[in-house]
Amino acid sequence: MALKFVSAEEAAKLVKHGYNVGFSGFTHAGCPKVVPGEIAKIAQQEHEKGNPFQISVFTGASTGDKLDGELARAKAVKFRTPYQTTKDMRNAINNGEVQYCDLHLSTLAQDLRYGFYGNIDVAIIEACDVTEDGEIVPTCGVGISATVARMAKVVIVELNRWNPKEMRGMHDISEPLDAPRRREIPIYEVQDRIGKDHIKVDPAKIVVVESNVPNEGGAFAPVDEITTKIGENVVQFFVKEMEEGRMPKTFLPVQSGVGNIANAVLAAMGTNKAIPDFEVYTEVIQDAVIGLMKEGRVKFASGCSLTVSNECVEKIYKDLDFFKERIVLRPSEYSNNPEVVRRLGIIAINTAIEADIFGNINSTHIMGTKMMNGIGGSGDFTRASYVSIFVTPSTAKDGKISSFVPMVSHEDHSEHSVKIIISEYGVADLRGKSPKERAREIIEKCAHPDYRPMLLEYLEMGEKQGGQTPVDLKNAFAFHEAFNETGDMHNVKWRK
Ligand code: COA
Repeated sequence: MALKFVSAEEAAKLVKHGYNVGFSGFTHAGCPKVVPGEIAKIAQQEHEKGNPFQISVFTGASTGDKLDGELARAKAVKFRTPYQTTKDMRNAINNGEVQYCDLHLSTLAQDLRYGFYGNIDVAIIEACDVTEDGEIVPTCGVGISATVARMAKVVIVELNRWNPKEMRGMHDISEPLDAPRRREIPIYEVQDRIGKDHIKVDPAKIVVVESNVPNEGGAFAPVDEITTKIGENVVQFFVKEMEEGRMPKTFLPVQSGVGNIANAVLAAMGTNKAIPDFEVYTEVIQDAVIGLMKEGRVKFASGCSLTVSNECVEKIYKDLDFFKERIVLRPSEYSNNPEVVRRLGIIAINTAIEADIFGNINSTHIMGTKMMNGIGGSGDFTRASYVSIFVTPSTAKDGKISSFVPMVSHEDHSEHSVKIIISEYGVADLRGKSPKERAREIIEKCAHPDYRPMLLEYLEMGEKQGGQTPVDLKNAFAFHEAFNETGDMHNVKWRK
């Protein structure tokens, strides 16, 4: 059956006010780039006429500015899940314009199938190829594409010619059965494939929009003194673990989180030859992994997206035969699946915004209220991992904020799941320690020396209260209050 080709403007008209719209991609990678802008224009026109126009946006993870940014600026979004990172979407969430549901990324596809959010009306999927019998080949990110494409009544395929159709073969697409009939996920090795190289839908519901738009991948911040030191501390921790027999000498597959610090940690692991060549089982494959793959240090990477700079993705496209043998891109339901993470014994390395002295982690909220990005996949990996590591610089904002506080102002990962914390000062090993022991370990090994006396003072006040966990409720948020009142946590004032 011949496919129906339409303009982006025509395709956007298929999206109506109140619709649930599922988008392809994961981070900026693999997201549609022309139809969302046309939806934003329709929203603006309707708002000017005094009509409502807002949709609910479902994605694999964050997206690029051409999706979240355009729609947020047009005030076209009512509800957003499961993750975001763009400035305008973040502002719209924090000023209450958008209802945001911050979710573990592995759960969204199944939650949609279970009907927790209603139906998907339209799916918009970026592809490098689409065939007349309904095979859609994704580009750099997979996310929830297979599920939303199957559920939707209409599938708008953005056939983005910037991506070579020879990418076919890099993806591994399937959907698990739903409870109570779910079977094991037969991924026993990082490189195992269990699905197809495309998403298959009824071609009668496809409309195709042709485009040729580059990815939105910016460069990572250069590695600096602090991120280098954090990376070295991570490497030293691994070397000791192998020497002392707590980690196999052949090493284990690695998951590393998003952002500059995670990228720097992977780069440090690659340069230190005490770490054997390793495999990656993660959600976002960042630039450092691609560089290390070329050097033979990373043997294979399974992920959900190629969240790399445009310079890096162009290198991958020029060398597809090499990379297709070493990379597999899966739906987030598989890339982040706790069953597989526990089976493979993944080392989970994620970044904290703040940690408290007992090992609870805040990955999402600034001063407890303002959403930064979201939990992303950090929870999927942390809880199920072989060993869970959180990295963070000891301070933020020129030292005025301590990343180590008496009590986290928002909790994403609890003391029960967090095993190791690493800053530029050292490694806090929380395994087998009571809350009091953990507190001293974190203060002495990881906190910035400026803040150590204040944290110890707090700990002593807590210890006077008795009990298992030495919390002093009157002063638990004294660091945050000092920052809100004076702009600097150094000015902490204890309540007597
Ligand atoms: N208080 C206030 N601001 C803080 C802070 C704190 N305690 N800690 C960090 N920040 C700010 C930094 O100053 C920086 O601000 P800027 O953008 O204005 O410069 C920003 O947060 C990002 O921090 P940075 O140090 O550059 O780290 P990053 O790029 O590695 O990002 C997270 C860190 C935590 C925001 C990011 O990793 C994240 O969103 N994590 C949650 C999701 C996740 O872990 N996903 C991985 C799953 S696979």
